[in-house]
Amino acid sequence: MLTGTGSFLPETRLTNQMLTQMVDTTDEWIVSHTGIHERRIAVNQSVFDIALPAAKQALADSGRLPGDIDLIIACTVTPDSFTPSLSCRLQAALGADNAFAFDLTAACSGFVYASDVADSFLKSGKAKAVLVVCAEVLSQIMDYTDRTVCCLFGDGAGAAVYEWSDTQQGIRASFMRAEGDKGDALLAQAFTPCDTLHKQGRQQMDFLKMDGRAVFRFTAKAVPSAIDGVLKKADIDMSQVDWVVPHQANARILEMVSRRYGVPMEKIFSNIDKVGNTSSASIPICLDQMRRGGLLLPGQTAIFVGFGGGLTYGAILIQM
Ligand code: ACO
Repeated sequence: MLTGTGSFLPETRLTNQMLTQMVDTTDEWIVSHTGIHERRIAVNQSVFDIALPAAKQALADSGRLPGDIDLIIACTVTPDSFTPSLSCRLQAALGADNAFAFDLTAACSGFVYASDVADSFLKSGKAKAVLVVCAEVLSQIMDYTDRTVCCLFGDGAGAAVYEWSDTQQGIRASFMRAEGDKGDALLAQAFTPCDTLHKQGRQQMDFLKMDGRAVFRFTAKAVPSAIDGVLKKADIDMSQVDWVVPHQANARILEMVSRRYGVPMEKIFSNIDKVGNTSSASIPICLDQMRRGGLLLPGQTAIFVGFGGGLTYGAILIQM
């Protein structure tokens, strides 16, 4: 069951107005095409710096001590280093001495993928308490001269603690998929082939490039496919679901979910106007804001839908 959540947003606000000074865009275009008004930017902060407070908050919320955690899974597409992993850095900083730790790369689907993996460890008996931490400093890979992407993304972190429980509470069903053949539609290059012995022509880390229309077409199919898949696995219909929480990529996608399933917009949580697209951190930030805002109540069910880089997608159904 879900026993704790936490989140952290860096202080610096990057508003649409500020972006109009940097690229050829308008507040009206950004709001009408995405629903975003502002996003947060981590200035002189690493992904670890923003992940740690979210992780600490989730742990405190769960009432667990660091030593109670036996697995830490971290997700990020903007790591400080390939090794040590973000999860190992967190394990050390938290003093989670009984935990093993690894990173999982699934871009914007990171939280639902990691939650599904956490659930498998809990259900197999291999772990009793798992900490999932998703954190992104997407501003690091943003080209602030490319208006087609820089208006969409922001920085932030979210975390959740899952614990073994023999009650109905927890992840009731999950549905995960990948469509790697479409992966180049959302590309953050790491290394490219080069004369590796002499390091000639060596490049490392490029800006994020996105074919927005291709990703949008993928999303329009992937989101309903994930929702239908998880509903089928749980053997329930949408009338039995209290909340739908899609990855915050675009307000139009949230409206599409509302129309297709007849779910009122009040039941589809969104913070995209203030946070933008924070990739893997997007859903756990929503989850934390919902719990702290008293929106997610014990006994309620919520579907969380991730989609993005890979291309990957998936949904989990959680009973609170
Ligand atoms: N300001 C002004 N004009 C812009 C901007 C901008 N910021 N960005 C693009 N435009 C222009 C384009 O250049 C284009 O001009 P042209 O017709 O002269 O070539 C025009 O606006 C329309 O461009 P489109 O790409 O067709 O705009 P669209 O309505 O599709 O909206 C958007 C673009 C918002 C990126 C949309 O395609 C989208 O949401 N895609 C999906 C993104 C997504 O879901 N990502 C999430 C998964 S990935 C992840 O989270 C990491």
